Amino acid sequence: MEWFEKLYTKDYINLCSFGSPEQTQIEVKFIVDVLGLSPDSKLLDICCGFGRHAFEISNLVKCQIVGIDLSDDYLTIAREKYSTPNIKYVKGDMRDIQIENHFDAITNLFTSFGFFNEDEENEKVIQEVNKALKEDGLFLLDYENKFHFVFNDVLKKEYYWQKIDDNKYCIIHNKYDIVNEREIFSAKIIEVGKDEINIGYNIRLYSLPELQSMLKRNGFEIINIWGDFDKTAYSINSRRLIILSRKIKNL
Ligand SMILES: C[S@@+](CC[C@H](N)C(=O)[O-])C[C@H]1O[C@@H](n2cnc3c(N)ncnc32)[C@H](O)[C@@H]1O
Repeated sequence: MEWFEKLYTKDYINLCSFGSPEQTQIEVKFIVDVLGLSPDSKLLDICCGFGRHAFEISNLVKCQIVGIDLSDDYLTIAREKYSTPNIKYVKGDMRDIQIENHFDAITNLFTSFGFFNEDEENEKVIQEVNKALKEDGLFLLDYENKFHFVFNDVLKKEYYWQKIDDNKYCIIHNKYDIVNEREIFSAKIIEVGKDEINIGYNIRLYSLPELQSMLKRNGFEIINIWGDFDKTAYSINSRRLIILSRKIKNL
């Protein structure tokens, strides 16, 4: 089983530190603005999770939204709690989107890219995004700034523990695999009277030039780059690496 099939279940949802409702509002205002969404827009959110963005986007602009995710648990929460008639949640894999020339805009949010071992497989996601977009369609990638991860998570809190409840603790390890340029987050869950559980994630952290090259060779032009949802410029200290690109040719 791949790490992402194990991690993204309802049991570990709190470990993933999804943005607060306030942070989600900030993100969604930015998304609607930079994508220029209107009620006529068709938007696809790949790796939509439990639908926090789709739902709030829909509250701002009643466009047609499709959310694709692999996690049955997250899709169940999305359909039960983050649903409106103009949002459709579909189980699917970002490597095989199966819809062509349809969307005006596609989002991939909260570091949902770089999940696979091989670069070819990660690039396949960009190729699928190209196929699913209409010509001139926009792609918004909200990704981790590798420098922020190294300076803040690896160097300042490499190991720490968290209390989950009186009987359950979690030991966290943040590691940067410098050889393969991957973020490795491991969590060991220790519960009185039970076997230890080990979960985590392992994400290829591409640099900005690598992402720009990947997008360009797959039919996109770069429109803008930011370091956070407040539109600050991307720098070594930025929390995020956000890239807006436009499809300029079919593959
Ligand atoms: C970091 S979470 C982000 C979720 C959501 N974008 C958010 O911000 O709340 C990554 C999501 O990607 C989904 N995922 C992982 N691998 C996937 C794949 N191969 N295809 C589609 N979704 C996948 C997970 O189930 C999870 O919901």
